[in-house]
Amino acid sequence: MTSTQRTAVVTGAAAPRGIGKATALRYAREGWAVVVLDLDEPAAKETAEDIAAQTGAAVFAHAVDVSDEASVRAAYEAVRAEVDAGRLPAVGALANIAGITSPVPFLETTLELWNKVLAVNATGTYLVTKAFLPDLIEAGWGRIVNMSSVSAQQGGGVFGKTPYCAAKAAILGFTKSLAKELGAAGVTVNAVAPSAVDTDIRVAATSPELEDAITRGVPLGRQATADEVAGVITWLCTDDAGYLQGTTIDINGGSFLH
Ligand SMILES: NC(=O)c1ccc[n+]([C@@H]2O[C@H](COP(=O)([O-])OP(=O)(O)OC[C@H]3O[C@@H](n4cnc5c(N)ncnc54)[C@H](O)[C@@H]3O)[C@@H](O)[C@H]2O)c1
Repeated sequence: MTSTQRTAVVTGAAAPRGIGKATALRYAREGWAVVVLDLDEPAAKETAEDIAAQTGAAVFAHAVDVSDEASVRAAYEAVRAEVDAGRLPAVGALANIAGITSPVPFLETTLELWNKVLAVNATGTYLVTKAFLPDLIEAGWGRIVNMSSVSAQQGGGVFGKTPYCAAKAAILGFTKSLAKELGAAGVTVNAVAPSAVDTDIRVAATSPELEDAITRGVPLGRQATADEVAGVITWLCTDDAGYLQGTTIDINGGSFLH
């Protein structure tokens, strides 16, 4: 069985200009069946219809709040029912992309904001992985890709401040530890760390000046496209990427070099 005779599950996949949708579309173009999971159920359904119309792939949408265990369990059960009914092939890949940012100076943060940012980014990655991983282990083949950020590596400097950086750094530790623990289970776990990507995540609190300043810090002189990030994520789910385990792929235009 090739990887693309499987289903790829993508969280945070509804936003029309987001990395999640670009990733879901890319998986579908590369031959995978796709599950679109998102907090925004109507948008998730619209995205699924759009991707199915563009690619002819089997695409299933379901609501999920990745930070809520019962909601994640319900989404998993719904996907499992589609697989058991033969409407989707077995799940082979999971892209944990759902995330929120926190452009708030540290002393203006609240415990509520801290908890929310950690819950969606870090706990969400934990809960969704915990739900889908047993099926990947049982199949003896799987790919998990977690969404971190250059902010975790360089301490912000793009947009998200301390809670966001802490959450995205947690995802890197999570990725490395799980990668080691899975050992020879046939499941790889890797992370990607983009710098600024041209999506709507900053739309509520950005300005042309801020976007210019972000772009000026990138040697390539532009922000990444969502599709460029999607291309790396889906490549990490190929057989060719089978020897990458616990690694973080930088997608930052040269703006942070180790
Ligand atoms: N855009 C960037 O510059 C950038 C850079 C580095 C990392 N990232 C990360 O990439 C991911 C996607 O970012 P984007 O720019 O596409 O963002 P976006 O805001 O366009 O999309 C995020 C999606 O996540 C969904 N979502 C939010 N909370 C959720 C929850 N609790 N449960 C399920 N879904 C939820 C939203 O509905 C939305 O569809 C995020 O994790 C973000 O932190 C983005």
